[in-house]
Parts: sequence; C-alpha cells; structure tokens
Amino acid sequence: MSINVALIYGSTREGRFCDKVAEWAASEIASRSEFSVDAIDPAALALPNRHKREESSELADLKQRIGKADAFVVVTPEYNHSYPAALKFLIDSVREQWQAKPVGFVSYGGVSGGLRAVEHLRLVFAELHAVTTRDTVSFANVWAQFDGGGKLLQPGAAQKAMATMLGQLHWWAIAVREARRVKPYGQSAA
Ligand SMILES: Cc1cc2nc3c(=O)[nH]c(=O)nc-3n(C[C@H](O)[C@H](O)[C@H](O)COP(=O)(O)O)c2cc1C
Repeated sequence: MSINVALIYGSTREGRFCDKVAEWAASEIASRSEFSVDAIDPAALALPNRHKREESSELADLKQRIGKADAFVVVTPEYNHSYPAALKFLIDSVREQWQAKPVGFVSYGGVSGGLRAVEHLRLVFAELHAVTTRDTVSFANVWAQFDGGGKLLQPGAAQKAMATMLGQLHWWAIAVREARRVKPYGQSAA
C-alpha cells in the first residue's frame, strides 16, 4: 500500500545545510516502492510572514498538500536548543490536516544532532493530534558527515536509522489511514 510522505524542510536560512540533509532523506524515501514523496520547502512557498485573517492561495495550497499526505518526515536543524521559527510558522498555519497522522524526524546540528529540536517538536505535534515515531535519524556535527556534493561520507548508520524510522512511519500510516476511513478522526464515540 503506497504511503504519500510530505517531507518538510525545517530551515529557510540563506546558505542552509538543510538542502543536503533533505535531499538525502527524500532520495532514501523515494528509493522504497511503498512510499511517494512530496517535498514541502517553506523557503519556496511565499507564505505570508504573519497569520492573516484571509487565507492566501499559497496557504490553501499548503493545506491541501498536508491534507493529502498520509505521513510526514520533518527535516529540522537545531537553533538555540529548539527548532527554527520558520518551521513553527508553517506548522501553526495548518490545523486539522495534521491530525491522526504519523510524523518522523531527520534532525541535524552540532553535538546534539538536533535531538533537542525533535523533543520540542514532539510536544507541538501532540497538540495537533499527530503521532510521532519513537525512532529518528540524527546527524551530529552535520558538516563533517556530508561531502561538498551532498553525499554522506559514511552512509551505513544513517541508512539503518532511516530504515527503522520509515518502518515505524509506514506502520502508523497504514493503521491510522484505515482507522480514519472507518471513522473520521474527532467524531464522538456516540
Ligand atoms: C540561530 C542558530 C542557532 C543555533 N543553535 C544551535 C544549537 O543550539 N545547537 C546545535 O547543535 N547547533 C546549533 N546551531 C547550528 C545549526 O544546527 C547548524 O548550523 C545547522 O546547519 C543549521 O541548519 P541550516 O544550515 O539548515 O539552517 C545553530 C545555528 C543557528 C543559525
């Protein structure tokens, strides 16, 4: 059963490292026949810079893409022990389209490998009724892990971690897609 994964870029910084990590993650996901990938890059979206009363066509388009996804992989760096503001703005711009869907993480940064950003994101996605996978992929000292062309120098451990995370993401995506079909999420028990 094919799972449509929305891969979300966490950084919009000029000169960001995110491109390398996200492109690696996208190619890992796309190499598996059970997944398709929609890469969502807030730097390319032209979202408004604050929440507006009227919904822009760009925001409507983003909601539609999030709504179509069965699962999410968020690629996030760590900024001051958390995740970037641009990622928070994207997450907060959408609501029910996140609900009852799984979220996996690929994180990167200095010594912590972005793990503190991931722990903060777990709280945010819980509030949005999304479920986060236990296992994640993490790149500590990320600059030392990729070559100039964006190739991982020692891909083995990251590929193994990715396989574990994607296995969990697939399980949840299948389970909750069927559950949402049987009963739309949020309906009362009565
Ligand atoms: C504003 C800012 C804050 C940062 N804070 C941390 C931090 O708390 N912990 C860490 O490990 N790395 C930190 N870093 C390093 C980033 O994780 C690293 O530069 C990463 O490449 C940033 O992602 P980007 O290049 O895709 O924007 C910080 C970088 C920036 C720009």
